[in-house]
Amino acid sequence: MYQGIYTITENKKIAKDVYKMIVEGDTSALTATGQFVNIKVDGLYLRRPISVCDYDESTITLIYKVVGAGTEIMSTKIPGETFDILVGLGNGYNTDKSGENPLLIGGGVGVPPMYGLCKKLVKEGKKPTVILGFNTADEIFYKEEFEALGATVYVTTVDGSVGTKGFVTDVMKDLEYSYFFTCGPMPMFKAIENTAVTSGQYSFEERMGCGFGACMGCSCKTKYGNKRICKDGPVLEREEIIW
Ligand SMILES: Cc1cc2nc3c(=O)[nH]c(=O)nc-3n(C[C@H](O)[C@H](O)[C@H](O)COP(=O)(O)OP(=O)(O)OC[C@H]3O[C@@H](n4cnc5c(N)ncnc54)[C@H](O)[C@@H]3O)c2cc1C
Ligand code: FES
Repeated sequence: MYQGIYTITENKKIAKDVYKMIVEGDTSALTATGQFVNIKVDGLYLRRPISVCDYDESTITLIYKVVGAGTEIMSTKIPGETFDILVGLGNGYNTDKSGENPLLIGGGVGVPPMYGLCKKLVKEGKKPTVILGFNTADEIFYKEEFEALGATVYVTTVDGSVGTKGFVTDVMKDLEYSYFFTCGPMPMFKAIENTAVTSGQYSFEERMGCGFGACMGCSCKTKYGNKRICKDGPVLEREEIIW
């Protein structure tokens, strides 16, 4: 884990209430896709956890939805302003078990960590299929970016305005895949759990305190004992989760 000051180089709206922010600084603490950062927002006590969408030697790409005070303040920041950020938190996805044709499923703001994961899987020579689930057309983001990586991409919208009408599982149920990775809201996880025919990994966006394992504020029961979502997760394997 690394704590540092990061300079915003880009912060722009890419969908309804959704922003893409690029920050520049030390990325050496990032070791796996699916890790997250914890952002100190002026005037707020708790940091705000956001998944790493993508990163390179000097920049981190974050995609966040404005839902409350912290993300509202984040959306007003302009290039040149800075954030104090904890970087390299959580375990991230383990791609060893993915097989040749993994399925990646992102729901809403669960989509961002799927991007870095997809990039990694493609680099490893795998052929990922991606399902992106949204409520409606103006919420959709990153479809073209996933396609540019070479992934097969399906979009679902609850209102049917783009892609398949319904939920990610309406596409998932008809696909063949070797393994699955997912991030998104709990109702989507429950539907995936009822649909999935292989092993997989779920990334939980749990409410957090410290974000690095010290407060036990995110503790959850698993088949292998209590785990802290922030440190032992946010990614848990399908087999260990107690629903
Ligand atoms: C590991 C992890 C990764 C995440 N990745 C993303 C991401 O890539 N993009 C994105 O848009 N959001 C992501 N979230 C959710 C994001 O942290 C919350 O939407 C954000 O903290 C809301 O802050 P706020 O001040 O705007 O809202 P408020 O509701 O005012 O926040 C109040 C408190 O509740 C916490 N909180 C509120 N909603 C959530 C939530 N859904 N999950 C966890 N804590 C919450 C806040 O951190 C804060 O401490 C992630 C959460 C976790 C735990
Ligand atoms: S948030 Fe403090 S231990 Fe996880």
